Parts: sequence; structure tokens; C-alpha cells
Amino acid sequence: MQTVAVIGAGMMGSGISQTAAQFGHRVLLTDISLELAEKAKAGIAGRLANQVARQKITEADATATLGRIVPVGDYAPMSEAWLIIEAATEREEIKRKIFEAAGKVLGPDAIMASNTSSIPITRMAVSSPDPTRFIGIHFFNPVPVMQLIEIIPGLASSEDTIARTRAFAESMNKHVVLAGDEPGFVVNRVLLPLINEAAFLVGSGTGSIVDIDMGCRLGLNHPMGPLELADFVGLDTCMEILKVLLDTTGDSKYRPAPMLVKLIDAGWYGRKTGKGFYDYSGETPVPIR
Ligand code: CAA
Repeated sequence: MQTVAVIGAGMMGSGISQTAAQFGHRVLLTDISLELAEKAKAGIAGRLANQVARQKITEADATATLGRIVPVGDYAPMSEAWLIIEAATEREEIKRKIFEAAGKVLGPDAIMASNTSSIPITRMAVSSPDPTRFIGIHFFNPVPVMQLIEIIPGLASSEDTIARTRAFAESMNKHVVLAGDEPGFVVNRVLLPLINEAAFLVGSGTGSIVDIDMGCRLGLNHPMGPLELADFVGLDTCMEILKVLLDTTGDSKYRPAPMLVKLIDAGWYGRKTGKGFYDYSGETPVPIR
């Protein structure tokens, strides 16, 4: 059994840990405190129990999966991991600090990977001990369900790093898209303009929140409309990605829609705060206008 480490026990880090463990990998999971990592493991236990109740997996599978997830309070135990995946907040300065600190325990052949949604890999690689063993591995939410992983080699990533990262992704039955190290890579480069444009339409009153989402769900056959998807991803994350797209390309087409800025100003980040384009306090989400 091979050990991987996941730094960041939020929505993405939890999903990555659950998925890796379900496919037989031992996972060391950490966050800024041991308590947060333990809380994330408890959340995973709840989701697995739900799957057992719906007879999607057996009790034995759930127990074995949970047994493979080990919350840890610091980076030292990660020296035994062949792969360390950073899944922290989408802020470059936070990620760089993690690469520097975790880099001190990175094994001599181990890979350091970032689950960044948009920040250039080549730029972040310089904060890791060995840019040839640094790479982007971009998961999609909810990780256990979504079938894709984007792999983004930086300028210095070695062929061996790319091959081993791909093998890890495929070991979890995911499809791999190899994306260039360009702002937003492939999927978010397409997704964020869609979400942003939908937010512009809310602001200009071109369509209601409900109609814009229904239009895209039924007219494009998307499982979620762009505004419900934005709430699902987190409006703060959407804003961070747009900022990266705008700053790195200088192209004004990525300027955040005023409606998005307003929601962020209000502290309404989507589902995680209970409010975004929709209010999630009741039984069913209600549009805010
Ligand atoms: N974690 C784990 N599993 C989950 C889940 C979660 N948070 N939410 C739903 N699921 C599972 C359910 O258990 C269910 O599994 P089974 O089929 O085994 O029963 C399955 O997903 C379908 O769920 P539901 O029937 O409850 O709901 P649904 O059919 O409406 O699907 C959805 C929910 C999968 C989230 C679907 O709406 C969907 O695919 N939405 C779009 C998601 C998307 O686009 N994600 C990418 C976001 S972009 C991103 O992540 C990258 C970035 O950098 C911003």
C-alpha cells in the first residue's frame, strides 16, 4: 500500500482523501490543526455511512477506506509519502508557504503536486525543493463523483513525474486531460467566463437567477446552471480564479462582474456560507433576487 499525503482538509482535500483511500491508497491528511483533519475524517465517515445505507458500498469497504485515512498534526510524517498533494485555499502566498514547509520533508523521489484551480505551476514550482518533481493535479468537485483530473506539467516537470501522476489519477478510475500551464488550464479557462457572464446577466437584469440557471440546465444540458455551480464551487474561489486570469493575461474580458464583487463584499460565498446567488437556509435554495 502506497502512502500519499493531502494538505488541506476542506471540501477538495476531503474529497481527494476519500477517493484515494477508496481506491486503496493510504492517506495522511493534514490542515492547520490536527482537529481540522480529524473533523474532515469524520465528514468522510458520514458520507461513507450514507453510501452504506444506500447499499452503494459495504460496511467492510467503508471501514477499510476510513482505516486508510490518517489525520496528522504536522508535516513530519509526510516524509514517507511518495506524493504530497496541496489542496489549500486558492491563494498563492498560502500555497508557496506550504511548498516550502512540506518541501523540507519531501522524500528524495517524492512528487509535490498542487490542486490549484488556476495559478501557474511553473511559477509555484520554484517554491518547492525540486521543480522537476512538481506538477499540477486538478480535481473537480465533488471529487468522488467527477470523472476528470487535469494534469498540468510545469516547464521543469520531468516525464517521470508526469507518468507517475497520471498513473495515480488512473488508479482512481479518473480520466486525465493533460493541460498546458496557461492561466486557468483548460476547464476553468472555459468555465469561469461562463460563470462570470451569467453574473453580468444577473446584474443587468437580462434574466433572473432562476431563468439563467434553468436556461443553461435545459438549453445546454448542464447538470447545474452557472450560478448554482458558482455557489457550489464557492464565489470566493471563482473570484480568485478570475483574478488570476485577469492578472496573468491582462485581458479585460476576465474582469469580475459587479454582481460577483457585491456578493463577495457581503461575505456571501455560496453554499459554504449559506448564501450566494441562492439562500440555502431553508429546505430548498431560494434565489436572492
Ligand atoms: N460528495 C460525494 N458524492 C456526492 C456529493 C458530494 N458532495 N454530491 C453528490 N454526490 C453523489 C451522490 O451520492 C450520488 O451518488 P450515487 O449516484 O452513487 O447515488 C451522485 O453524486 C448524484 O448525486 P444526487 O443524485 O444527490 O444529485 P445530482 O444527480 O443532482 O448530482 C452533482 C449532484 C453530482 C453535484 C451534479 O449536480 C453535478 O454534476 N453538478 C456539476 C458539478 C460540477 O460541475 N463540478 C465541477 C465544478 S468546477 C471544479 O470543481 C473545478 C474548479 O477548480 C472550480
